[in-house]
Amino acid sequence: MTKKIAVLPGDGIGTEIVAEAVKVLDALRRAFGLNIEMEHALVGGAAYDIHGHPLPEQTLTLAKQADAVLLGAVGGHKWESLDIAVRPEKGLLGLRSGLGLFSNLRPAILYPQLADASTLKPEVVAGLDIMIVRELTGDIYFGQPRGIRVLENGERQGFNTMVYSESEIERIGRSAFEIAMRRDKRVCSVDKANVLECTELWREVMTRIARDYPEVTLSHMYVDNAAMQLVRAPKQFDVMVTGNMFGDILSDCAAMLTGSIGMLPSASLDASGKGMYEPIHGSAPDIAGQGIANPIATILSVAMMLRYTLNEPELAARIEAAVNKVLDQGLRTGDIYTSGMRKVGTAEMGDAIVAALV
Ligand code: IPM
Ligand code: MG
Repeated sequence: MTKKIAVLPGDGIGTEIVAEAVKVLDALRRAFGLNIEMEHALVGGAAYDIHGHPLPEQTLTLAKQADAVLLGAVGGHKWESLDIAVRPEKGLLGLRSGLGLFSNLRPAILYPQLADASTLKPEVVAGLDIMIVRELTGDIYFGQPRGIRVLENGERQGFNTMVYSESEIERIGRSAFEIAMRRDKRVCSVDKANVLECTELWREVMTRIARDYPEVTLSHMYVDNAAMQLVRAPKQFDVMVTGNMFGDILSDCAAMLTGSIGMLPSASLDASGKGMYEPIHGSAPDIAGQGIANPIATILSVAMMLRYTLNEPELAARIEAAVNKVLDQGLRTGDIYTSGMRKVGTAEMGDAIVAALV
């Protein structure tokens, strides 16, 4: 049966990098009979400009109907002064909550060819392979009440609510333990249980569900220490599981270990394995429109789509091998460039990966 993919390029470099990922999907369709159809729609600032909303009804409907969603990035200076309710980021958050994508997988893998591109010493990052499992539809991102209110003395006060119910913690915990069972069987749960009740409950639930996974070793770490350990000795981690906000911050930190945030894909899954796939980086307005962005994170997101939603693990491995091959050939976009390599633009990198597929 033909699988439908909603393609949502978004803003900034989103359109450039998604175009390369679409080339890869087209190549798989032509060369290996991948049975898919793609339909494009607007999200983020691009959607706001035309429809007055970052997540128009037709985009959400398409995303709901599709078997998988491929997303570029949203946001840009142009929309920064808009009301928070219609800012491009709300389009992304609306997709995550509207599709129930609570489990966000953010692998941080160092390609050996890029050990010199990391700001950390090669021996600290060589062989790095971490999976960050970030809860994506709860926490302070979505908690109520929220807003900016005026106090009796006339001063304004901003407020948000950090909140997790037991069932939300339990389902993301189970995601993490299931993934650990297929890896090195170690889960590090990251919280701030010494200060925040919300994460005290988080720790208690993680400890409880660990009993159902006797082969997996569970450890706990406070988020400040986790940030430090990620740059001190990142290879100590296998799977890290954490809430929405801590996961946002730690995954950027982990991304830099791999040389560039332009390398890291992500999958956001619902309870049935349907997913949205996107690079973990943003729309990079500073380099948008120049054809120099790194499309690898988006192309690797397609590999995750093939593995987690389309059930085509061999094609996923084929993409990953093609990325390895072009890195071996010395091709580098600006963000991962080191001297002696060949600097290429977005399209040239995409074309090289397509050529390496077959
Ligand atoms: C991410 C991004 C988003 C987030 C923004 C764009 C809303 O930083 O996917 O990590 O905070 O989740
Ligand atoms: Mg982020």
